Amino acid sequence: MSQAPTVAAAPTAAIVLAAGIGSRMKSALPKVMHRIAGRPMVNHVLATLASERITPVVVVVGPDMDIVTKAVEPHQAVIQKDRLGTGHAVLQAKNALAAFTGDILIVYGDTPFVAAATIAKMRTARLAGDKPSVVVLGFSPSDPGAYGRLIMKGDSLERIVEAKDATPEELKCGLCNSGIILADANVLWKLLADVTPNNSKNEYYLTDIVGLARKAGLACGVVEGAADELMGINSRVELAAAEAIFQNNLRRRALENGATMTAPETVYLSADTKIGRDVEIGPFTVFGPGVVIDDNVSIKGFCHFEGAHLAAGSVVGPYARLRPGADIGPDAHVGNFVEVKNATLESGAKVNHLSYIGDARVGAKANVGAGTITANYDGFNKSHTDIGAGASIGSNTVLVAPVKVGDGAMTGAGSVVRKNVPADALALNEGRQETREGFAAKYRKTKQAQKDAAKKK
Ligand code: UD1
Ligand code: MG
Repeated sequence: MSQAPTVAAAPTAAIVLAAGIGSRMKSALPKVMHRIAGRPMVNHVLATLASERITPVVVVVGPDMDIVTKAVEPHQAVIQKDRLGTGHAVLQAKNALAAFTGDILIVYGDTPFVAAATIAKMRTARLAGDKPSVVVLGFSPSDPGAYGRLIMKGDSLERIVEAKDATPEELKCGLCNSGIILADANVLWKLLADVTPNNSKNEYYLTDIVGLARKAGLACGVVEGAADELMGINSRVELAAAEAIFQNNLRRRALENGATMTAPETVYLSADTKIGRDVEIGPFTVFGPGVVIDDNVSIKGFCHFEGAHLAAGSVVGPYARLRPGADIGPDAHVGNFVEVKNATLESGAKVNHLSYIGDARVGAKANVGAGTITANYDGFNKSHTDIGAGASIGSNTVLVAPVKVGDGAMTGAGSVVRKNVPADALALNEGRQETREGFAAKYRKTKQAQKDAAKKK
């Protein structure tokens, strides 16, 4: 959280505009659902609002955007049926916020990087100087292009003009509208009622509230934010660029918090990845959503994790895949080409080579031999495998679930275990071995003779 303003800022609600389909994304998915660091853009915005304790939050979505409505829960979503402009979009949230008195912050669902500290600055600006009723977050992009321009008179913001409606003189102004606006709720609703669609796009522009406020004698202010924080995402090229920036930030944060990465540029993190201290992360590891790494974990690289927990001292990889529900206990080992899904490895358990452990418990200090498979799915149901503490599962064992191997029990290499194995017992069912003395040598001799005869012909 950012530093608290010296004077208590007003209670603040937010309206997130997310009704646009984002046609430049060329996607069936609404734009704000595209992910950055494993999290939909709109959820990045919501996380920032939450960190500033901004509540309630109302999200304006388009028709047929149930997927967005679901993604923003428990916040309320309201539908903007016709897309008549940003001013019109904000008005769709009026009923939902009818009882709210305080400030309203308007943010965009496709501008996911705005920092909590910048929002805090805007809230402080509402209380400073001539106490502006409307505070706009401005920025100076390298290319002002199609952004609305902030027309100033000294320190006072007079109006916002959209690029399409601007004079050549106004277009020269480099200070642009990020779209993020903070206003007193009462003032906002009053001003919006007077907005008309008399402009080149025939839209109700939210930005017109600044000129209207000035006409009513109300002060308007500007806070300037960093350009890279306010980049809007409109295409997949911009999405990829945003991902790259975000990944760099996440890597830096992980390093600063005490993780070691030999090749950070090859490690991909999620916005919610939690990494403890003295964690070693080898190259080319991907952290999907929902991963928690405790202290002193060693990740050997080339791993893929999602929805997994690695407890202190565990050693994983290289080439391990941990899927949702993988809970790797303290000092447990997961080696190369091992897949773990919805399974707990208890303290000190080892699954070191070429195995699939799904829907299972591997008891403390149990050792699972190379090539072991939990056959958890019969085409209809998933069943559980329970391996007791200290058990020793022989290489290439197939555990046909549901099945239990008791504490301290063993299975022979190559066994197919369909029945429970009592504690300390040995289960084996491999075929008996037949040994034919001299067979291999005789076999080679015959084959070689055949080959030589064929050559001579
Ligand atoms: C808007 C601003 C412009 C600013 C720019 C910053 C206005 C009139 N213009 O322009 O000053 O520089 O953003 O990126 O506000 N939306 C709806 N319903 C609508 C229209 C828009 O929900 O009817 C949402 C969009 O999904 C998007 C946001 O509002 O998240 C901005 O809309 P967009 O059409 O991109 O506005 P710009 O023309 O870029
Ligand atoms: Mg835009």
